[in-house]
Amino acid sequence: VPVIDLGLLPSSKDEQGKLKLALCSGGCFQAIGHGISSSFLNKVRGVAKQFFQLLQEEKQKYSRAANQVEGYGYDLVVSEKQVLDWNTRLFLRVFPEHQRTLNLWPENPDKIRHAYLTLSRRTVSYELNSCREVLHEYSIKLKQLVDLLFKAMAKSLALEEKSFSDQFGDNPVMHVRFNFYPPCTRPDKVLGLKPHSDRSWITVLLQDEQVEGLQFVKDEKWITVPVIPHVLVVNLGDQMQIMSNGIFKSPVHRVVTNTDKLRISVAMFNEVEPEKEIGPVDGLIDENRPRLYRNVKIYASFNYECFQKGKVPLEEVKFHA
Ligand code: OGA
Ligand code: NI
Repeated sequence: VPVIDLGLLPSSKDEQGKLKLALCSGGCFQAIGHGISSSFLNKVRGVAKQFFQLLQEEKQKYSRAANQVEGYGYDLVVSEKQVLDWNTRLFLRVFPEHQRTLNLWPENPDKIRHAYLTLSRRTVSYELNSCREVLHEYSIKLKQLVDLLFKAMAKSLALEEKSFSDQFGDNPVMHVRFNFYPPCTRPDKVLGLKPHSDRSWITVLLQDEQVEGLQFVKDEKWITVPVIPHVLVVNLGDQMQIMSNGIFKSPVHRVVTNTDKLRISVAMFNEVEPEKEIGPVDGLIDENRPRLYRNVKIYASFNYECFQKGKVPLEEVKFHA
């Protein structure tokens, strides 16, 4: 998995070339030079850890309601034969800010510290911080990071900086997903997360600082992303594959489990405003590269419907002239 220095991106043609290569081939990279301190990244990990260490009855207070997407929970069961993913998660909308469901945001752990249950023998100490504040601050930092990226991505294809963001709409959406993967007695049989591509245009993942598990396909083999504590793992999602007319890739990835270690990760998904129709950018369509995808809106629901029918969403939006 290539390493890209975000600090160099705005000015270095070399780094822009590396970015383009990474996104056209694997669709993912490890970001360094992102300007977020290691201690802050550990605070974010701490927030996740503190939440998952709450007693089950405490976590239940943040449960996803039956007809909602936000909240704490696990896979929706849609069929009897379904193999469930070996994880639980807390899913929240962080942007637009006025669409936050704050009662589902974990409260200041100082107030709920008494409810702790120790789940791991790992001795990692985190400063206790207000979950809500840390999450708010993290979302602002990541917004700046992805703003830098969509500009660099457009430039790397010799497009105007706003070529992609013109399609984001006035209210682009960012969701956070705190993932908790418990140890699993049968890692040979059960995945932490089944193979999928993200529905976002870009996803930024903060991995566990010790335990690996995320894998991408490379040369038809699964390769594991190494654990480098201060790195952010960036992968594109389906919305960018569509907007880039298939030039940039939305990679398939999965998470494996292991027998004796739990793993925590924090994924931030960036999506266009749901009602906004997206399609391949004009500048990326010509005789040599005809339009690959039709326009689509409300990609989140579209994606979910495909998933329920066992269909690959990107195949379903392919253009058949
Ligand atoms: C996801 C995802 C990877 C991980 O949440 O979509 O791919 O390492 N997560 O948790
Ligand atoms: Ni994913």
